[in-house]
Order: sequence, then C-alpha cells, then structure tokens
Amino acid sequence: MVAAETAISDIDGREGVLSYVGYDIHDLAPNATFEETCYLLHNLELPNEQQLEEIKEQLGREREPNDFVMELMPQLSQNTAPMSMLRTACSASSARDPDGWDTSEGANYRKAMRLIAVFPTLVAYYDRLRKGHPLVRSDASLSLAANFLYMLKGDKADDEEARIFDICLTLHADHTMNASTFAARVCAATLSDIHSAVTAGIAALKGPLHGGANEQVMRMIKEIKEPSKARDYIINRLRNKEKVMGFGHRVYKTEDPRATHLRRMAKELAEKSGDGNNYEISQEIEKAVMDEKGIYPNVDFYAASVYGYLKIPTDLFTPVFACSRVSGWTAHVREQYADNRLIRPDHAYVGPERRSWKPLSQR
Ligand code: CMC
Repeated sequence: MVAAETAISDIDGREGVLSYVGYDIHDLAPNATFEETCYLLHNLELPNEQQLEEIKEQLGREREPNDFVMELMPQLSQNTAPMSMLRTACSASSARDPDGWDTSEGANYRKAMRLIAVFPTLVAYYDRLRKGHPLVRSDASLSLAANFLYMLKGDKADDEEARIFDICLTLHADHTMNASTFAARVCAATLSDIHSAVTAGIAALKGPLHGGANEQVMRMIKEIKEPSKARDYIINRLRNKEKVMGFGHRVYKTEDPRATHLRRMAKELAEKSGDGNNYEISQEIEKAVMDEKGIYPNVDFYAASVYGYLKIPTDLFTPVFACSRVSGWTAHVREQYADNRLIRPDHAYVGPERRSWKPLSQR
C-alpha cells in the first residue's frame, strides 16, 4: 500500500538497493559527507561548492541550543533517558525558534537546519551533564560528525574515526516510509508545525523494533561476552521465540546495503583498536542467525559495534541515529507540506456486530 509519494529516497528490497534522490547508497557512503547528504535530501540535488559552503556554515552556526532548552538540560540529564530528553528538547526548541510560528517554506527550511545542527549538541551536553563533566562548546570549524565526537568526549577524534562516524550519519539519514518518518509525515499532514512532526518521529524511533534495536544489539554482545558462546546464545534465544535484535527487515529480502558498509567499518575499527572481540562476536551471531533462520543483519546490527568502537555510550546509540535521521524527517516533512493531503488510513473492523445499549443494572 502506498502511503505517500516521495522524491527523497527509494528502496528495492529484493535487490537490496537504497538510493537518495537517485544516488545509490554504495556511491554516497564512500564519497558524500553528511553535510552534502543533508543538502541533497532537502534540495534534491547535490550542492555545488558555494552551496556546500553555505550549508556547512549554517549547520556550524546553529549548533547551540536556545536559552530555554539550556535551562531544561540539567533537569533532563538527571531525570530522563536519552531519547526522552531528545523528544522533550526537540519540542522545547520550538519555543524560542528565531522564526517563531512562521510556517513559510523559507522558515521551515531554516528550522530544519537548526534541528539538524542542534541534535548532536543536545546528545553531547546531556551525556556530559549527567556525568558532571564540563560542557565542551561546539567548534564550527569541524564537520558535524567530528564536532559531535569532540563535544561528547572532549578530545578531537582522529580523521579516520571522524570520517567513519560521518559515513554512519549518511547511512542512517533517510529510509523512505520507515515508522518514524511516516509518523512525522502523518503529523505534518495535519498541518501541525515542523517541531511537532519531528518530535513524533523521535517518539517512533525510540522503540526497540525501530531505532532502539542498536542499543539492544550492544547489550546482547556484552551478554554473550566471547565469540565461542554466540551460537548457543542465538539458538537458545530462537528456541524461546525471542527475536535477535539487529536482524530482519520489513522491506529487504536480502542484505541491507547499509549493513555492508557498517560491517566493513566495524572490522576496520576492531583492527585499529586491537580488540576484535565485539566484531568477532557479531560475526558469530550473524553466521548463527543465517544458519538458523536465514535472516540478514539490518542497519542496527553492525552500527552497534561501530559506535562501541567509537566509545559512544550504549544508551546514546538511538539518539545518535536520530541525529542523522532528523535530516530525513525534516526533508519529508517539507515535502509533505509542499503537496499536502491529510493522511487518514482505512481500517478493518473486527469487533462485535452493532448492538443495543445495556443499562448499568443489566451488565
Ligand atoms: N529475530 C528472529 N526472528 C526474526 C527476526 C529477528 N530479528 N526478524 C524476523 N524474524 C522472523 C519472525 O519471527 C517471523 O518468523 P515466522 O514466520 O517463523 O513467525 C518472520 O521472520 C517474519 O518476521 P516479522 O516480525 O513478521 O517481520 P516484520 O516485517 O513484521 O518485522 C522487524 C520486521 C524489523 C520488526 C523484525 O525483523 C524485527 O523485529 N527485528 C528485530 C528488531 C530490529 O532489528 N529492528 C530494526 C529494524 S531496521 C532499522 C530500523 O528500521 O530502525
């Protein structure tokens, strides 16, 4: 069933192809930066040099949360889980947006850029606040990816790690009518504002069947502890009719093309770190799930190892997914506004036939 027309991305689930505005993800991953990807998703063309400079400048300038959000952050860091913080902070960001309640095309583009720019800062500040560490202010000379790692850890990442994280952001940026993007579009289609639509997207991404799976993958790897124990663990899990997180997909019937890049990057980081344990456990899990169920890993499976090797705390994996997917959500929301029709699906009623009201005394 087609829920919406879109020119932003496309998937061929049988062939395992994902493209953004016609560009294959296998072409984008090694070549595009996340800033170029954002431009592509929002403008439906790759940027020329000047356009790239403009979007980099814009995404570099808008990284600090507004005062209202900054006042909330200490409370949020102490009292909420990371995705709940992001959901609340995104909603609160609307309060002092410089474009206010202007819903023009130009204002929505600027709001989209602000959200893309500020999400990584929110995640980094949250982590530093909860640990009692001093905040690290953003460095506009760094790419969005390198700056996030810097603000989170306080040290600048080396070029290889920053580039790997940059590729992760590109790989997660958009994925047609996934649950969170659809949620954002449904909200936008009521002509609600862009912050509300993105907040709906965050809420949908949070669940373990969607973006929350990457965190569960790392918890599983930690539970397994060593490669030799992976197969029995998986067999046991499947015997108990439990799902293995990071596997399966509603659309892909073959390998998720994003997993191919994430597997390679996990291997590179494992070699670089000199500690291949998580990667080896992941490989054993992958083999066991394929042997037992014939199911392929999805984007969340090797993303967990990559983020682990980048020393990103496990409970920030899903917020990191959101830092990328906000580029896709906002592009879809703008596309929805541009040619809007209320999204109102039909249903199949399975309840009782029509019947008469029973007074309380007869029930
Ligand atoms: N582990 C074990 N069995 C699985 C898994 C899995 N991860 N995924 C699917 N199956 C089995 C399922 O048990 C069913 O088997 P049977 O026909 O014998 O009952 C069959 O495959 C079809 O599964 P389904 O749940 O009906 O498929 P779906 O299209 O409704 O669900 C999915 C897709 C992604 C929700 C599901 O594969 C799943 O729950 N995976 C684990 C969670 C996960 O990794 N989510 C991230 C998805 S990709 C990134 C994103 O979108 O955020």
